[in-house]
Amino acid sequence: MEFPDVLASNQATLYGVLLAGALIFLGLLMRPKSKNLPPVVRTIPVIGGLLKFLNGPVQMAREEYDRLGPVFTCKVLTRNITFLIGPEVSENFFKAPEAEMSQKEVYKFNVPTFGPDVVFAVDYPIRVEQYRFFMEALKVSRLKGYVDAMVEEAQEFTAKWGDEGEVDLKAELEHLIILTASRCLLGIEVRRHLFGEVSELIYDLDQGMVPISVLFPYLPIAVHRKRDKARKRLEEIFGGVIEKRKKSGVQENDMLQSFIDSKYKADGRPTTHSECTGLLIAALFGGQHTSSITSSWMGAYLMNKPSVLAQAQQEQLEMIKKHGEELNHDVICNMDYLARIMKETLRMHPPLVMLLRYAHKDFDVECNGKTYTVPKGHVTAVSPSVAGRLPLVYPNPDNFDPDRYIPGREEDKKAGAFSYIPFGGGRHGCLGETFAYMQIRTIYSVMLRNFEFELVGDFPEVEWNALVVGPKGPIKTKYRRRKLSQADVKTDLLPQSTL
Ligand code: HEM
Repeated sequence: MEFPDVLASNQATLYGVLLAGALIFLGLLMRPKSKNLPPVVRTIPVIGGLLKFLNGPVQMAREEYDRLGPVFTCKVLTRNITFLIGPEVSENFFKAPEAEMSQKEVYKFNVPTFGPDVVFAVDYPIRVEQYRFFMEALKVSRLKGYVDAMVEEAQEFTAKWGDEGEVDLKAELEHLIILTASRCLLGIEVRRHLFGEVSELIYDLDQGMVPISVLFPYLPIAVHRKRDKARKRLEEIFGGVIEKRKKSGVQENDMLQSFIDSKYKADGRPTTHSECTGLLIAALFGGQHTSSITSSWMGAYLMNKPSVLAQAQQEQLEMIKKHGEELNHDVICNMDYLARIMKETLRMHPPLVMLLRYAHKDFDVECNGKTYTVPKGHVTAVSPSVAGRLPLVYPNPDNFDPDRYIPGREEDKKAGAFSYIPFGGGRHGCLGETFAYMQIRTIYSVMLRNFEFELVGDFPEVEWNALVVGPKGPIKTKYRRRKLSQADVKTDLLPQSTL
């Protein structure tokens, strides 16, 4: 069949149009899908994000959560930080394998403090082995002995207080936490003979971590030089202790011993002096400020909430009735109410206000019916402070209520796996959580049984301007020594179920 010319030329045009259409369609199919990036925090260009961030990352994250929802990006100079707020969206952060979401890039500023051969300085397979050393050092059979040492330290420490007086509870607890940590982690030699020098060196390490260290950890400034000298001297001290123990054949029950005895599975080699020192420093840094801040807030709440105090005292009386005056691991494990007070304290005041990872791959997050793609190269952040006060997860979030966690309510679980994150979670959840619960319950058990306390002045405010966030200023406290008895408990404040 022949087409008239005009039709033939039209047909050619038609084929041409169809072909072009097909190519465009194919092109659309082949082209990478345009990504639906998370909304961006609106700021003035270049330095706006930095200023907002430096002004208070938690306050910023709270405001932007209300404005933009659970997923949003803040541009801080050349970095994109994408926040994932709440259990609905934080799963990726906690569960992704290290190859997709890693810690090293964002936490490597710790390397000069911890040392060149541990944690964020080493490749992931070695780090995993070192985390195994931590787990071994903190397992229940060891914790039992640590608790005996904690009880001894807490009793010895409070025995030095007078019959009544006024103290800064924050400073006292800071001191007591370092004493118990030194004894259980660093060992009896340091606690008994080297405590003065070692605590000064640890102080220098601590002072060597200033905000600028996060960006430039090797900047030649005085505090960094002092930090490096302290790290070196600590290695000499621990090297000496390790050699003495090895020669004498004495085996202690502490974290140091556990690190000395640890061997890498990959090649069977034992740990070096420098690795043992670095791991001990990492444990102290993980546990010192976090635990002392938590115990300070907890004291402030106990003094500020008479009904909570009454219930905590009642629990102690019940323990005494059941177990006598004996305080040990098993008795302390039974103090559920004290544990819930600590848990609630941490929900309201997590010392680590922001946890970070580096995204090595694009990943998708679904929220409010939308899917956002967080691009490779973004720093991702979750905030225990913001997550702990989400009204959808914790009704009436600013109210201190230790019973949120009792069976039937379980607000920490109802909204999903990562609703409660003061200890992180998933792949890198805190390895010292049980230790911290034992340490802080031991201290309060000793204090509640032997003293009454009263807060002088107002409830403390938050010191946001710190890497590890705690109460601002001293917590002035009046105390009076007495043996806890039923007469001390305000029974009219107790719930019916406890009577
Ligand atoms: C109230 C006290 C404590 C709090 C609130 C706390 C909080 C945390 C948080 C939030 C993380 C996760 C960090 C992240 O995901 O980036 C973490 C990890 C860790 N914590 Fe704690 N911590 C406490 C006490 C301790 C103690 C006492 C120790 C050791 C004795 C310790 C050792 C560690 C270690 C080794 C890790 C790293 C785990 C990993 O990356 O796999 N922590 N802690």
